[in-house]
Amino acid sequence: MSLFQTVQTPALTYEQPLGLFINNEFIKGVDGKTFETINPHNEKPIVAVHEGAEEDVNIAVKAARSALNGEWKQVTPSERGRLLTRLADFLERDIETLAAIEALDNGKGVTMAKGDVTASAGCLRYYGGWADKIYGQTIDTDTNSLTYTRHEPVGVCGQIIPWNFPLLMFAWKIGPALATGNTIVMKTAEQTPLSGLYVAKLIKEAGFPPGVVNVISGFGRTAGAAIAAHMDIDKVAFTGSTLVGRQIMKSAADSNLKKVTLELGGKSPNIVLPDANLDEAIEWVNLGIFFNHGQCCCAGSRILVHEAVYEKFLQLFKKRAEQNKVGDPFNTETFQGPQVSQIQYDRIMSYIKDGKGAGAKVVTGGDRHGSEGYYIQPTIFADVTEDMTIVKEEIFGPVCTVQKVRSEEEAIRVANDTNYGLAAAVHTTNINTAIRVSNAIKAGTVWVNNYNTLHYQMPFGGFKESGVGRELGSYALENYTEVKTVRVHLSQS
Ligand code: NAI
Ligand code: MG
Repeated sequence: MSLFQTVQTPALTYEQPLGLFINNEFIKGVDGKTFETINPHNEKPIVAVHEGAEEDVNIAVKAARSALNGEWKQVTPSERGRLLTRLADFLERDIETLAAIEALDNGKGVTMAKGDVTASAGCLRYYGGWADKIYGQTIDTDTNSLTYTRHEPVGVCGQIIPWNFPLLMFAWKIGPALATGNTIVMKTAEQTPLSGLYVAKLIKEAGFPPGVVNVISGFGRTAGAAIAAHMDIDKVAFTGSTLVGRQIMKSAADSNLKKVTLELGGKSPNIVLPDANLDEAIEWVNLGIFFNHGQCCCAGSRILVHEAVYEKFLQLFKKRAEQNKVGDPFNTETFQGPQVSQIQYDRIMSYIKDGKGAGAKVVTGGDRHGSEGYYIQPTIFADVTEDMTIVKEEIFGPVCTVQKVRSEEEAIRVANDTNYGLAAAVHTTNINTAIRVSNAIKAGTVWVNNYNTLHYQMPFGGFKESGVGRELGSYALENYTEVKTVRVHLSQS
């Protein structure tokens, strides 16, 4: 099978790389296997890409190790920054192509996908700015010594990303790793390998030395597991399910105790209090759950509404959710496209069935949308109780529950009644209430009167079982550097 293929999308035609990207070249996998990626809009294959497994991971790790000890080491911090900002420029230059790839392979609306490209470029440029600002400290302990710290790269980093934001997760991962001088073996999600391979081409064009970033298309149980267990990978960064996050941590412990950062699931509460500006709150609640078809780790899937505004809220929210434009990702007006895969579609539909069976009231939706593609109607369940599965488990689709609470205290108690702790929101016009509630909620991000407004300057990550470590902002840099203390004894003669 060839290593490149012309792909036609409804928006444009482009050249898609298909190979594994190792040492700045697109190559076939050792086993010669390929796998198809599916267009979730029509359930048909788009192309087949080359598949990487354990042996390919070994080859990629060797390439990354030799770049780390060789050419990449000679690249100055400023030059690293320049490479990152150049890559950001190329993402923006090719925004139409990248957005079309995301719409085709993931199913997100092309207008939303452009937002992902812009945010990815912003993230890379931001970390480009950090590259020559990675400093240690000088520490005065006594007059006979000089002590200082160096923030050195951790080394070869394995990065495993999911399919919900294929391009954006790629950028979140490589940005801080490259700014701090590491090299990378990236495994993209098997559902969405295409944008990562396209960016690999841009990485080469930007002038990164061979072996600095290697990209493997492949499956979790083979390529992903090989990364987590590898004896010559110094750190693994993972975004995905809590289940797999646990396996990765175990695997790291059983192999070389590589450093681990995890960005996992959530069941985030979105609290609406009686003094909220209800019209604005509805907009944010709608975006909070239905953005990206509910396939967000931080989705505001548990909506907790004070009883004083509960009925009015349900009325308005139903009306608003029914206005969301669901359909073809290549229609520029589309807000919600298909779910990413048959598996995800089935999983979500089974949660919907479970909710109905448990006696929750369907306010709107509750069924598939149309007859082709993995489309699901925006679905709101009300009159739910805390013990229902749809209230407890991450659904990762356009499905939310609305729960009645009687007080601020009850809202906080219910909000925290979960093993997760990724995000939360509170809607209120009282600044004291806003801060009191924000402080009381155990979550990595709390939005006040907004939702899902992520930014590369703001740290993001989870309390409790939602993860380990923080991505984005200056905080992410800490996961990609080892601190070395150097103590020099000053001779008295
Ligand atoms: P997943 O956790 O299986 O997949 C995420 C990534 O991990 C993919 O690249 C996959 O190939 C890789 N992976 C899978 N098994 C692995 C293993 N044993 N070792 C190393 N890497 C492995 O998630 P999946 O199955 O795609 O989705 C299932 C659920 O996970 C979703 O319904 C959702 O609840 C959650 N999820 C959360 C995400 C987030 O952003 N936090 C993203 C994707 C899924
Ligand atoms: Mg696909």
